[in-house]
Amino acid sequence: MDHFLYRGDQLWTEGVACQAIAEAVGTPCYVYSRATIERHWYAFEHALNGHPHAICYAVKANSNLAVLQLLARLGSGFDIVSGGELERVLRAGGDPNRIVFSGVGKTAVEIRAALLAGIHCLNIESEAELDRVIEIAASLGMRAPVALRVNPDVDPKTHPYIATGLKENKFGIPVEAARALYQQAAKHTRVLGIACHIGSQLTSIPPFLDALERMLALVAELATLGIELQHLDMGGGLGIRYQQENPPLPDALAQVMLERLRGQYPKLALHIEPGRAIVGNAGILLTRIEYLKPGELRNFAIVDAAMNDLIRPALYQAWQEIVPVNRCSKVIARAYDVVGPVCETGDKLGADRQLAIAAGELLAIRSAGAYGMSMSSNYNTRPRVPEVLVDGKEFHIIRRRETIADLLDPESLL
Ligand code: LLP
Repeated sequence: MDHFLYRGDQLWTEGVACQAIAEAVGTPCYVYSRATIERHWYAFEHALNGHPHAICYAVKANSNLAVLQLLARLGSGFDIVSGGELERVLRAGGDPNRIVFSGVGKTAVEIRAALLAGIHCLNIESEAELDRVIEIAASLGMRAPVALRVNPDVDPKTHPYIATGLKENKFGIPVEAARALYQQAAKHTRVLGIACHIGSQLTSIPPFLDALERMLALVAELATLGIELQHLDMGGGLGIRYQQENPPLPDALAQVMLERLRGQYPKLALHIEPGRAIVGNAGILLTRIEYLKPGELRNFAIVDAAMNDLIRPALYQAWQEIVPVNRCSKVIARAYDVVGPVCETGDKLGADRQLAIAAGELLAIRSAGAYGMSMSSNYNTRPRVPEVLVDGKEFHIIRRRETIADLLDPESLL
């Protein structure tokens, strides 16, 4: 459930008409709903209530400072994957002790910064990384807090680019190697837990349960070696509805995982790292139609947003709903390819969409709150678009539109 609804024929975000936002800040622009973000976060919080737990929001999904700030105020933890994301969370007022650091290629500088900031835990992804963390921690006179990210070799049944928990993927430590590495870690670090993340946009429960069983088998084995873990981090990955998908609700997923933990492991804290499920359906991308270009084979609606602003359709052939901001257009609906101005045939935001539209009108691309702005680029020297957070009847510009000067500043002539 989200807060992007029609009132009459006009699309609103909470208590603000989308058209008013477009007129105030121009297009394209991202619009987020605070009430929707908070609602989704609380869905996880309520689902896990009663069992020790932590929600570590995956910053990469949407890393705007104001978005992080409102999650920090709810008491959220954060899953980061770079020194840049660490800096963002700290700046947004996030509690360092609720940060976990994932990623296969943490640099020495990033590891040092994370240890100095006092983050909760580093999720170690290889033997070489463990060695590096031990060495850096020693140079700082501390024992690093760690979990090992294990690769459970489970098929998440999602797009191959975002499947991460298969043996062939670069992520995590193979189950067979984990035991020896834990023994090594126990000698030199503070071993806190075990982590996994099998993929993104998962729409069914079985792959999660499969991974959970494999993790628990390792937890039990480690206990026999005297290594008692405090937490089990099941990663993120819960999918959302873009079109016809029917992903489980956070509550349903949490219930089956907690049922499994309660009897045997009542004290083993369950950590999760949701990104998309919190912010995905809490954002839209507003764009204006520049031209209609009818053709013999296809009709094109050329809009002012492009693949550099929202790359998911081009990169993953992702389907995101496209709706008119004002539904009262008198024209007849036709099938359009909604395309941007970038010089690539892949610059398509939606194909074959039945739309009753005219040039100059506004469209909203839905489900754009996750991996939209955070994956945007300046390709074609296009300034990044502004971000707006709607809060009831008010809206705040939480990132201004970039200028061409912003783009050119770091460069120099010979
Ligand atoms: N934890 C780890 C270690 C991750 O790698 C990810 C996402 C998450 C948590 C959050 O996953 P989520 O709950 O958002 O599914 N750009 C792609 C998605 C890439 C996901 C990468 N890892 C897309 O637009 O579909």
